[in-house]
Amino acid sequence: MSFDFDTPVDRLPSHSVKYGLRRLKFGREDVVPLWVADMDFAAPECVREALRRRIEHPVFGYTLTPPSALAAIADWQARRHGWQVDPDWIQMLPGVVPGLDLCVQAFAGPGQGVVVQTPVYNPLFEAVQRNGRRLVINPLAWRDGAHGMDFDHLASVLTPDTRLLLLCSPHNPGGRVWRQDELAHLGALCVEHDLIVVSDEIHADLVYPGAKHLPLAALSPELAARTVTLNSAGKTFNIAGLNTAYAIVSNPDLGRRLRDAAHTLHLEGANLFGPVALEAAYRQGEDWLAALLDYLKGNAELACDHIGTHLPHIGCTMPEATFLLWLDCRALGLDDAALRQRLVDAGLGLSPGIQFGPEGSGFMRMNFALPRQELARALRALERGLAA
Ligand SMILES: Cc1ncc(COP(=O)(O)O)c(C=O)c1O
Repeated sequence: MSFDFDTPVDRLPSHSVKYGLRRLKFGREDVVPLWVADMDFAAPECVREALRRRIEHPVFGYTLTPPSALAAIADWQARRHGWQVDPDWIQMLPGVVPGLDLCVQAFAGPGQGVVVQTPVYNPLFEAVQRNGRRLVINPLAWRDGAHGMDFDHLASVLTPDTRLLLLCSPHNPGGRVWRQDELAHLGALCVEHDLIVVSDEIHADLVYPGAKHLPLAALSPELAARTVTLNSAGKTFNIAGLNTAYAIVSNPDLGRRLRDAAHTLHLEGANLFGPVALEAAYRQGEDWLAALLDYLKGNAELACDHIGTHLPHIGCTMPEATFLLWLDCRALGLDDAALRQRLVDAGLGLSPGIQFGPEGSGFMRMNFALPRQELARALRALERGLAA
């Protein structure tokens, strides 16, 4: 079956964050938005058909998550990642980000330490700050165009009141897929220091050939017992606006604490449409996903080739996962505001690297999940914006 990622979809009438907030974010309506991490592609037809079928039923009252959606999640994790999940371990959530906040509330007391490895998707450290926990930073090392974990530094910053580590796996930004030895080393430190780990695996299904995502909780029973995995079909199938995510928690004590935190805010469960879309995607969407990954890989190659040829002073590495490029613009010697403005003036709205932590200074994150012809146009604009 063939799938069309080339034909542009007009998102303007759809009240999308990516297009609708351009003036607020960039001061102009006309930048090509390459910031928020959703894709400019239509969701798979199987998902749209399942939603249409649900809409045919005329009552939209309070809803339960169908057991078939939980079974679809368990089967997906087994089939795609070799992880045997009991549907009873799954808790539905209104998003991975609300899940991060709930985990911070559930697993660390006020003032207790929570580790985050920056640069990272900013809600990970914001969840710590806005809940009044102590942020413990273990900066990632940037070597040869890729992030790596600094285990010695991590061991040096852990104190007895550090309770929790928030992992982004695969990593955003930078697109690393953590290898088994890296996860095992991290896991050993968490066991040694008795940390609970929240593993945000929302990018787990957007991994390119050559790398393999390993769910942290599947590494060993010891790690499973201290891991809460957060995930969603939102990124993979471009249905983030349905505000539906899930936690997988095999340890009943951690599961209860997370459920209690969710209950306090009435955040348990999912909305009516999200599980319908998720189930259709996980049951029928694999061909679409294979085609998507192929297309995204082609886009990433086009972007890296273009940047390598026309902007050799800009660092650009093929990501192992995600539809986000992490561009090293430090050779331009601009401060972060000036760098961002150069791109806005060239007609592009990217995410400034500094948004993900101080280590992101001088970098820009670029979303490449758009029709190839539009990407090619954006790359010509990038050339103007980042010329030496
Ligand atoms: C690592 C990571 N976690 C979570 C999210 C957002 O998750 P949700 O929309 O389910 O809150 C994103 C979106 O960019 C992300 O990159």
